[in-house]
Amino acid sequence: MAENTAETVRNAVVEAALGKLDLDAKTRLLAGQDMWSLPALPEIGLKSLVMSDGPIGVRGVRWTADDPSVALPSPTALAAAWDPALARRAGRLLAQEARRKGVHVLLAPTVNLHRTPLGGRHFEAYSEDPYLTGAIGTGYVRGVQDGGVGTTVKHFVANDAETDRFTVDNRIAPRPLRELYLAPFEAIVRNARPWGIMTAYNQVNGVTMTEHHELVNEVLRGEWGFDGYNVSDWMAARSTTADIAGGLDVAMPGPDTVYGPALAAAVRAGEVEESAVDTAVRNVLRLAARVGALEGAPPVVTEHPAAVDGDALAREIARRGFVLVRNENGALPLAAGRTVALSGAAARDARVLGGGSAQVFPDHVVSPLDGLTAALPDDALTFTIGADPSEELAPADQGFTLRARCRDASGTVIGEGSLPNGQVQWIGDDLPAGVTHEALASIEVVGTFTPRESGEHAFGTRGLGAFALTVAGETVYEGTQALGPETDPFEAFFGSPVERGKVALTAGETVEVSLLHTLDKEFAAPLPAVMFSFVHLAPRRDPDELIAEAVEAARAADTAVVVVATTERVESEGFDRKDLALPGRQDDLVRAVAAVNPNTVVVVNAGSPVELPWREDVAAILLSWFPGQEGGAALADVLTGAEEPGGRLPTTWPVTLADAPVTEVTPTDGELHYGEGVFIGYRAWDKAGAVPAYPFGHGLGYTTWSYEALTATPDAVTVRITNTGDRPGRETVQIYLAPTADTVERPARWLAAFASVEAAPGESVETEIALPRRAFEIWDEEKNDWTLVTGAYEVVAAHSLTDGRLTATLEV
Ligand code: BGC
Repeated sequence: MAENTAETVRNAVVEAALGKLDLDAKTRLLAGQDMWSLPALPEIGLKSLVMSDGPIGVRGVRWTADDPSVALPSPTALAAAWDPALARRAGRLLAQEARRKGVHVLLAPTVNLHRTPLGGRHFEAYSEDPYLTGAIGTGYVRGVQDGGVGTTVKHFVANDAETDRFTVDNRIAPRPLRELYLAPFEAIVRNARPWGIMTAYNQVNGVTMTEHHELVNEVLRGEWGFDGYNVSDWMAARSTTADIAGGLDVAMPGPDTVYGPALAAAVRAGEVEESAVDTAVRNVLRLAARVGALEGAPPVVTEHPAAVDGDALAREIARRGFVLVRNENGALPLAAGRTVALSGAAARDARVLGGGSAQVFPDHVVSPLDGLTAALPDDALTFTIGADPSEELAPADQGFTLRARCRDASGTVIGEGSLPNGQVQWIGDDLPAGVTHEALASIEVVGTFTPRESGEHAFGTRGLGAFALTVAGETVYEGTQALGPETDPFEAFFGSPVERGKVALTAGETVEVSLLHTLDKEFAAPLPAVMFSFVHLAPRRDPDELIAEAVEAARAADTAVVVVATTERVESEGFDRKDLALPGRQDDLVRAVAAVNPNTVVVVNAGSPVELPWREDVAAILLSWFPGQEGGAALADVLTGAEEPGGRLPTTWPVTLADAPVTEVTPTDGELHYGEGVFIGYRAWDKAGAVPAYPFGHGLGYTTWSYEALTATPDAVTVRITNTGDRPGRETVQIYLAPTADTVERPARWLAAFASVEAAPGESVETEIALPRRAFEIWDEEKNDWTLVTGAYEVVAAHSLTDGRLTATLEV
């Protein structure tokens, strides 16, 4: 069936189904029946619609490792590949994962902007540039929907930081709102027609986003023609009447929400028109029809794209996103036969994804140590810890095999579940089989631990309630962690781990462990949830000794590779960062290693910018982001030169936090003023005339390019480049526009378009790149519309923002 015929049929089926529902059924459909799904309505042949996070994998409806997920590199890494076609392939893999897990809608992509490097979810968004963000998001949404699975582009809009995220009122003038924060959403809605959008927790200009009639009904639906469904961020919906008037279709999670029976009552009380409910139901039924969950309606996709190999794609995206920001004296790729001294705790315990709702549980992770061990000859590699970024206890993981045993008040076991690590997070109905919140009285995290190091292991707890902790038959702690008057209810999830005691253990000798947690039934959580952690920290050796050991190994090797990283306590959903420093003694480690080995290569395993105070003292720096489950394999590909690193910076990398132009994330009296207007990211650096550590768009490959010809019209540019090196490569041709004389205040230059080009050694390639009209427009606050700014523009074909290669002039 042709797609427009199918659409007509779908619309007719939707109308007929809507007509059969009474008010109670309709309002029920608009509220979650649990944490992740909407109720089925068998009377109209509607299946239960299931949603799941997103964006680097599909977790499914349970917080467990029982049903693992492919973990792709984080969004900053995907964006660093500057390739919407690659993002589309990622989307297709995710759709395949979603279908495998019975998920109809992926809660992704995150297209908020890198307004400041302090944003806790910076790793989960693409870029500081709205055009790049929109282009990657468009590819991603197309890919997921190619596979017949819906998306919810999130978080609409301006959820650019985490501090007070439920309440903050972001005050943003119309121009930056249109030109920056709404722009990626607009591009994706116009170019990829997403089937869903997620409205954010925060307010914009005094109105909370789930109630934002102007931005949702007028701009998103009215101006841009969005015809998908609008779901609240989790627990963001707060008012029955204001939400329905503000265009919110679905309130998640449930069952206790402002929709459902509360919405039916509001209609009966004459506070809400039933037609408003119908509009929302129509949007949900249209979604169901598109994904094939409504009987009689032909789904958009009847033939799924070819199967994707998740491991291979994760590896490809990782290397395509790695950004080589420095490479002196051809330090990389490593020459054959060289010995390598690898150091850094993250080389062994890789941090492959960021914290919060973006977490998934892959069935394996290839660490840098694993990847290099597989790629290098046996005697070519040594590993030392050197420095450990984690200074706190963290959910028990390496060496632990844990299960959760659930008991009722009488002590009878009512169910058991596996655990991915020491973190228990059961929200809503996500409980082991047979267990209910009503019956559940205690949970015992029980299993074994085989330590890697001998010495004093610290054990502890995170969360509220009573705990009894036993290790190797010894009671380490028995007591209660109470909720203080000031404690945030999210403390149990995001709060600090507490050390409860130390036990001396021997490497390789397995011991039994148990943490019994008795629930505090008095504590009224916002929704039924069990959240606590069994935390652990391996023996800390003397940090100076660890560094000395790494230095000795580095001295003896041809090349030293140091992996530095952030931790989950640095970059995560739920809070913003306080600084950009690498935690622990990692800077000291790099300095000490670089002092003895001139071929020191530093791999930065962080989702967002960190300060690299030693950056001029090392031979090479490779940003690996949070590289996903195959990160170590991709790292080996790139270090050995089997593949080149393909990434270009999607965000400016400052020398220090103090240099970053926008750093305020804490509201004053509930308001956060986006006073910098349209000047964020490189637009702000240019305005200040300041020089960052590495500019937007920067990134080196293993070959060289000469830019040979550029012609430009207002519609398109044509660029010819030649690969002048001795190996095949890929270049990201970046097109910047700079007004020559400006009558309005605008950035000095901005990204207008880009394209990826591959060429063999000596080969020349010509590429035509369309220039969107929007690149020449600004939002006119008086006219309340876009306006073309006529005049002369310089068009620069560039390797990065600051490495322009050819310039042409055009007049619009
Ligand atoms: C996050 C969303 C996520 C949702 C469901 C929220 O806290 O902001 O991005 O999709 O939880 O996990």
